[in-house]
Amino acid sequence: MFEDLILSNKTIKKRKSFNRKDNDKKVYIETYGCAMNFSDTEIVLSVLSDFGYNETDDINNSDVILLNTCSIRENAETRIYNRLKHLSAHKKKNPYKVIGILGCMAERLRKDLMEKEKFVDLIVGPDEYRKIPHLIDSLIETGEKGVAVQLSKVETYDDIIPIRKEGINSWISVMRGCDKFCTFCVVPFTRGRERSRKVDSIIKEAKMLFDEGIKDVTLLGQNVNSFNDDGNDFADLLGKAAKAVLGMRFRYSTSHPYDCSKKLIETMAEHDNVCNYLHLPVQSGSERVLKLMNRLYTMEQYMGIMNYAKKLMPGIGLSTDIITGFPAEREEDHKMTIDLLEEVEYDGAYTFAYSPRENTKSYRMTDDVPMEVKVRRLDEIIHVQRKVSARIYKNMVGRTEEVLIESNSKKSDDYLMGRTDCNKSVILPKGNNKTGDLVNVKIVKSNSATLFAE
Ligand code: SAH
Ligand code: SF4
Ligand code: F3S
Repeated sequence: MFEDLILSNKTIKKRKSFNRKDNDKKVYIETYGCAMNFSDTEIVLSVLSDFGYNETDDINNSDVILLNTCSIRENAETRIYNRLKHLSAHKKKNPYKVIGILGCMAERLRKDLMEKEKFVDLIVGPDEYRKIPHLIDSLIETGEKGVAVQLSKVETYDDIIPIRKEGINSWISVMRGCDKFCTFCVVPFTRGRERSRKVDSIIKEAKMLFDEGIKDVTLLGQNVNSFNDDGNDFADLLGKAAKAVLGMRFRYSTSHPYDCSKKLIETMAEHDNVCNYLHLPVQSGSERVLKLMNRLYTMEQYMGIMNYAKKLMPGIGLSTDIITGFPAEREEDHKMTIDLLEEVEYDGAYTFAYSPRENTKSYRMTDDVPMEVKVRRLDEIIHVQRKVSARIYKNMVGRTEEVLIESNSKKSDDYLMGRTDCNKSVILPKGNNKTGDLVNVKIVKSNSATLFAE
C-alpha cells in the first residue's frame, strides 16, 4: 500500500514513496527524434538506475512515465501532444504515477506544457537530466511539479556510463549543442551552446564497449565537426579512436559541410575501421536558398568535399538531408536541388517539407511556398532520389562485399541483417553466421534501399 498517503487537496498529493522496493522502482520511457535523443535516454536510464529505478517495457506497471521529445518540425510536437492525451488516462487511473516530459520540447515549450498539460509532473531539458531523481523525490514529498530547463555551457555527462540496449551497435556522444544557427532550426535553442567531451574519456568508453562485445560505434553530436578538446579537432578524435580500438568499426553523425575538413576525409580514408560513409546534409542545391538558410557554404565548397571524398574512397556511401519549400524557394531553386541529387548520387536522402519554427530567424521570413507546393516538391525529390538509389544499389549486384552482421532480419528469422563498410544494409541467409560476424558475401539482388546476398 502507499505509505502516508495525504490528500490535502485535489491538486497536491503527498506520500513518502512509490508502492515498491526502493531498489526496484519502474520507469517506462519513450524516445522521439534524433540519435542524440536516443543516446540521452541511455544517460537518463543510467542516472535513474543509481537511485533504484529499472526500465520496464510495460507502461501499465510503471511508476514513472517519461517521454524524451523532439521539436524539430511541427509534426514532431503534434505527435507528442497526441501521445499526452493518451497518457492523461494513465494519470486518471493512478494519480501517483509520475509523468515527465524530457528533451527538446521540454526546453522549448515548458510554459505551454505547464499551462496546458496540468497532469505533467516533470519538465526537464537536455542539460538537466542529473536532477530527475531528485525532482521525483521532491514531487513525492511536497507535491510540487519539477521543472529544470537550464541550458549548460559545460554539461557533457562525461562521467555517466549509459545503460545501453543489447546488440553489437552503440553510440558514443562526443559533443553536445550547436552554434551554427541555421535560420530554420530550433536545435541551437533547445540544446544550447557547443561543448565537447575529452578525447581520453571517449576512447576509454570505446575500449570498454569493445570489451563488452560492441563491434560498431557511431560518434554522435549535433555537429561533430565542431568537436574541439584542447586543440584536438574531430579528425584527431576519429583517428585516435580508430587506432586505439582496431576491432571496432567507427561511424559518425552529423556533420555540417562548413566544418567538414579535408583532414577529416583523409582520416576516414586512412583507417580501415572507419566506415566509408559520409552523411553531409546539404538542405538545398540553390546557393541563394543556402544563404537564406545561413548554411555558410557555397555549392562549390560542398561539391569540393564530396568529390574529394569520392576520390579518396571510391564507392563511398553518401547521404544527405533536404528541405523543400523554404521561404522564397522558387521552381528554379528546386530544380537545382534535383540536379544536385543526380550529380552527387547519394545512396539516400532524408527529406522534409519546411516547417516554420517560432523564434528561429526564418520564422520571420514570409512562408510563401504553399503547403501543396512544398509537398509536391518533396514528392519529386523523393522520386528522383529513389531512382538514383535504385541505380546505385543495382550496380552492387554481382560484387562481393564484407558485411558486419548486426541483427536478425526484421522480416524472417531465417535471415540476418548486416551492413557494408559503406553503410549499405544487406539481407543474407542465416546459415552458420551470427550477430557480430564479419563475412564476405556475394550480392545477388537489390532494391532502392537494401542489398540481398547469397
Ligand atoms: N545537426 C544536423 C541536423 C539536425 S536536424 C545537421 O546540421 O545536419 C535534421 C534535419 O532536419 C536537418 O538537416 C534538416 O534537413 C531538417 N530540419 C531541421 N529544421 C527543419 C525545419 N524547420 N523544417 C523542416 N526540416 C527541418
Ligand atoms: Fe540545426 Fe544547423 Fe545546428 Fe544542424 S547545424 S543542428 S541544422 S542549426
Ligand atoms: Fe529533435 Fe532535439 Fe534531436 S529537436 S532532432 S531531438 S536535437
